[in-house]
Amino acid sequence: MRSVMMCCLLLLLVSAAAGAEGKSEVALLLERVKPALQGEGEVGGNAQLATWTASTPLCQWRGLRWSTAATLPRELPCGNLSAGLAHHPVPDDLLLLLSIRLPASALAGHLPPELAAFSALASIFLAHNSLSGPIPLALGNAPALSLLDLASNRLSGSLPLSIWNLCSGNARLSLLRLHGNALHGPIPDPAALAPNTTCDALSLLDLSANRLSGPFPSSLVTTAFPALRSLDLSDNRLHASVDSTAQTGHTGEELKGPIFS
Ligand SMILES: *[C@@H]1O[C@H](CO)[C@@H](O)[C@H](O)[C@H]1NC(C)=O
Ligand SMILES: *[C@@H]1O[C@H](CO)[C@@H](O)[C@H](O)[C@H]1NC(C)=O
Repeated sequence: MRSVMMCCLLLLLVSAAAGAEGKSEVALLLERVKPALQGEGEVGGNAQLATWTASTPLCQWRGLRWSTAATLPRELPCGNLSAGLAHHPVPDDLLLLLSIRLPASALAGHLPPELAAFSALASIFLAHNSLSGPIPLALGNAPALSLLDLASNRLSGSLPLSIWNLCSGNARLSLLRLHGNALHGPIPDPAALAPNTTCDALSLLDLSANRLSGPFPSSLVTTAFPALRSLDLSDNRLHASVDSTAQTGHTGEELKGPIFS
């Protein structure tokens, strides 16, 4: 069962990467990310995303920060991004996307798996939109993602186990906010990914106001998430497992509310 799951996961990751092969990050953003985030929503297109066009100076593309392999992790200043693509001083195949920050921007589409193909993308802030559909399995393969805020959207499906891939390697997940979506099913245990997987940098985990169910052993908090400073699992259908109640004195009732917040 588990090997079948890992196999499907690998296939999905490979196909997402193959789709991205050979494209610059600018091209990937325009061809895959923009249409996906926009969705069928608004007549005439989304006002923020409408700034992502070849003729608009890159500096004016809303909600984005860029760098290059040579300038990482620093953001390129506006002066280096002052032209449209045709006359751009930094060749577009050298530009690396650092962050996408478009909260409350009327995005009505879905999250494309190609988000995992941006090699330096460290933060995604897309809270308070109308994004629907699942959290793509491939997102766990994003090589640099450390801040992910997708709160208050319409995301459905389960929280993929692959999300805990972001805990190891260069990504070092430190903030995960998925508050106020329609996610269901259990919270996957990072140790199901590989034995002793821990999320050493994760300091804020907010999964509240979803439809998550099943046990949440509080031992998970201490072993898998040793750096947690804020945890909110309230307004779900979780219950504490019996053994963790015995160990820590937590009851299911307490676990419904914010813990350490
Ligand atoms: C950014 O602009 C400055 C000043 O014009 C220039 O010296 C620098 O080389 C540019 N950086 C890149 C990556 O093109
Ligand atoms: C996992 O941790 C336990 C206890 O610390 C240790 O005995 C075991 O060897 C570890 N397993 C792996 C695969 O690292």
